[in-house]
Amino acid sequence: MKKFIIFFFFLTTLFSNSTISFSAEKAAEPMSPSWSFKGFFGTFDRASLQRGYQVYTEVCASCHSMKHLSYRNLSQPGGPEFSEEQVKIIASQFEVRDGPNDDGEMFDRPARPSDNFVSPYANDKEATAANGGAYPPDMSVLVKARKGGADYIYSLLLGYEEPPEGISLDDGVYYNKYMAGNKIKMSNPLSEGIVEYADGTNATEDQMARDVTTFLSWAAEPHLEERHKIGFRAIIYLIIITILVYFSMKKIWSRVESEV
Ligand code: HEC
Repeated sequence: MKKFIIFFFFLTTLFSNSTISFSAEKAAEPMSPSWSFKGFFGTFDRASLQRGYQVYTEVCASCHSMKHLSYRNLSQPGGPEFSEEQVKIIASQFEVRDGPNDDGEMFDRPARPSDNFVSPYANDKEATAANGGAYPPDMSVLVKARKGGADYIYSLLLGYEEPPEGISLDDGVYYNKYMAGNKIKMSNPLSEGIVEYADGTNATEDQMARDVTTFLSWAAEPHLEERHKIGFRAIIYLIIITILVYFSMKKIWSRVESEV
C-alpha cells in the first residue's frame, strides 16, 4: 500500500510538471468565452454557424482549405441548416475541374452540392510556397487537432499584438500571444467590418472570431447535437430502468420478509 501511494505521488508530480514549459515565450492561456455547444445539452447557434460560414468563405478560404466538407453538409440537420436552394446557389459560385468528357478532355464546371469544398491551392506545396513557407492547415478538423480547441482558435484570432520590447520579427512573421512560441506566419485575418453579415449583425472582430470558431467547431464535430440527444435519452432510460429495478426488488423482498 505504501509503495502504491509513493508511486501515485510520483505519477501525479510527473503529470503536473509536464504542463510546465521552460520556454521563455510561453503561449498565454486561451480565453474561454461561453459556447452554446459546450456542456451536456449544448447545441450550435444556427445564426452563428451561418455567419461563421460567411467569415470562412469570404476571409479564411483564400488560404485555408476544408477538404472534408461538402456543400450539402451545409444543409444537414445539426449544422448551419441553409436550405437546399441556398446550398445550390452557394455551390454554384465555385468551379471544379471535372472530366474527362467524351473527347477525353478535362473541363471546369460550377460545383454541385455533392462536391467537396473547393481548395484555394492545387496542392500543399503550392499553399506553403504562397504563404512564405508556412502551410495554412486544412480546417476540416482543426478544432480537434489543436490543444484548447475552440477556445484556442478564438483566442488566436484575437491575440495579435505589437511584439514586446526586445523581440524582433522577420518579414511575414507576426506576434501572437496565444501561438506556441508567440510567432505566427499568418497576418491578422480579421479587422472590423471585413465582412458584411447577411443578417445585419455588426461585424466586430470578436463577433467574427466567435462565429467562425463556432462554424469550425461544427465542421470538426458535425454530429455533436445528435450525440448529446442520444446521451440524454440514454440517461433518461437508465433512470427509468433503475426505478423499475428498485420497485421490483422491493416487491420480491417484501415476499421473503413476510414468509420469515
Ligand atoms: C493570407 C492567408 C491566410 C488567411 C486569409 C488566413 N490564414 Fe490562417 N494561417 C495561414 C498560414 C500561412 C498559417 C500557418 C501559420 C504558421 O504556421 O506560422 C495559418 C494558420 C492558422 C491557424 C493555426 C495556428 C496553429 O496553431 O498552428 C489557425 C487556427 C488559423 N490559421 C485560422 C484562420 C482563420 C479562422 C482565418 C479566417 C478568419 C484564417 N486563418 C485566415 C494563412 C492564412
